[in-house]
Amino acid sequence: MNFTSALIKLEKISQQHVLAYWNLLANGEKNKLLNQIELIDIEIFKKQQEQLFSRSDLLKEEFAPYNDYHFAGNVEDIASGKKIISEGKVGCLIIAGGQGTRLKIEGPKGTYPVSVIKHKSLFQLFAEKTLAAGKQTGRKLFLAIMTSPINHQETIDFFKNNSFFGLSSEQISFFSQGTLPLLDSEGNLFLEELATIAVGPDGNGSSLTRFFSSGIWKEWNDKGIRYLNYILVDNPLADPFDAELVGFHVRNEMEVTIKCTSRKDVKEKVGIIIQSQGKPKIVEYTELSETEMAAKNSDGQLRHVCANLSLFCFKMEFISKLTSVSMPMHLAYKAVKKINGDPPCRTEDMAWKYENFIFDILPIASKIKALLYSRANCFAPLKNYEGDNSIVTVKNALQKLDQETIKNITGMHPPNPPFELSQEFYYPTNELLSCWLGKKIPHVNYIEPFQNPY
Ligand code: UD1
Repeated sequence: MNFTSALIKLEKISQQHVLAYWNLLANGEKNKLLNQIELIDIEIFKKQQEQLFSRSDLLKEEFAPYNDYHFAGNVEDIASGKKIISEGKVGCLIIAGGQGTRLKIEGPKGTYPVSVIKHKSLFQLFAEKTLAAGKQTGRKLFLAIMTSPINHQETIDFFKNNSFFGLSSEQISFFSQGTLPLLDSEGNLFLEELATIAVGPDGNGSSLTRFFSSGIWKEWNDKGIRYLNYILVDNPLADPFDAELVGFHVRNEMEVTIKCTSRKDVKEKVGIIIQSQGKPKIVEYTELSETEMAAKNSDGQLRHVCANLSLFCFKMEFISKLTSVSMPMHLAYKAVKKINGDPPCRTEDMAWKYENFIFDILPIASKIKALLYSRANCFAPLKNYEGDNSIVTVKNALQKLDQETIKNITGMHPPNPPFELSQEFYYPTNELLSCWLGKKIPHVNYIEPFQNPY
């Protein structure tokens, strides 16, 4: 693309203002801007504008409650899930394309150190869980990571520089999601740098179709992987190889199983599971009215019990059917930096960000159920710089689960915090279990599986 063809394309959608500083740009910057203009999909841009102008803020309807969930804790499902994992039928996809704006970090969120003693990053914990689950089931297990153009190379470099945290490089694959332009309050494109049109990651909704089109789906399917465990990178309690979830999913012949927990209170910023056409469906907290979030039954209990954690088990075959599904776009009004004026200067402003949500594919599934877990076992997200869902609450939750886990394995009182367990305790082999049962727990701050318990 050259300047003239870029101008013609932009004029068609009345967006030629993004070329306003063309004469101030160095050659490299000009090319960068031209590449961005080339990538703009005019149809999608028009849809973005249309959606902005016809937008209604919050969903006003009253939703039917979803009460048909099942409770986790079925030992038979755990046993059968382990068997299915040991047969090499399960892979895990980690969703890690987000920006971490609320956490006030620049790089990939997965590189954030979270563990109590060793300061292991989110990525390291998930890699070590994968190794440990592999050891438990006697099988090399596979991970895929969805990044975004803003953190793709940095994520790969992080794994390479840390020798993939003990995984072999063939066990781990990366693919990137896409981006969508941000629109200002009038519905126009804008520059965030002199030569950069503002764009943002297009949400986690494209993750499964991108997973499919990246070729990883086929590679895994050819290996015999039949179920995909889907987790978000910002939740260190997410289990990449959740035996019970897989066992439940397969026993019930599901296309999708939603792993959820109970909502903490009416204010918690989580999507909720409602019932629609006799099936569970998820509505995002940003789109629900306060009345609906706070709705209670006559006994005072929350009407909508289940919190969405965006943790799922998908049948691989179901994923292959999603390629032609068109996803709705959701809008969020966010603080941004904008280049304005003559001479150009950078100002703070607000703009519309567009995202697809993963759970909008759920209505396509005909076989779908939700499995409810205790929060302490599955949900401690790292979202905010401070307060709720910050590093402090995450570390507390990790510490509590370590205490509970070592207590269950040994039958002894756990040591006083702070201490940290190796991830192998979360996927114990028979050898580990027999080695630790009834043994006093050493007073060290990092407990390894074969540390010769007293
Ligand atoms: C998400 C859920 C919400 C749930 C909450 C629980 C969605 C759409 N919403 O909300 O229902 O209650 O988590 O923690 O799933 N991400 C990408 N690409 C993007 C945007 C996000 O990969 O373009 C990833 C992030 O890295 C993160 C995850 O998706 O791992 C969640 O993103 P975030 O925007 O923080 O979602 P929440 O608003 O917390």
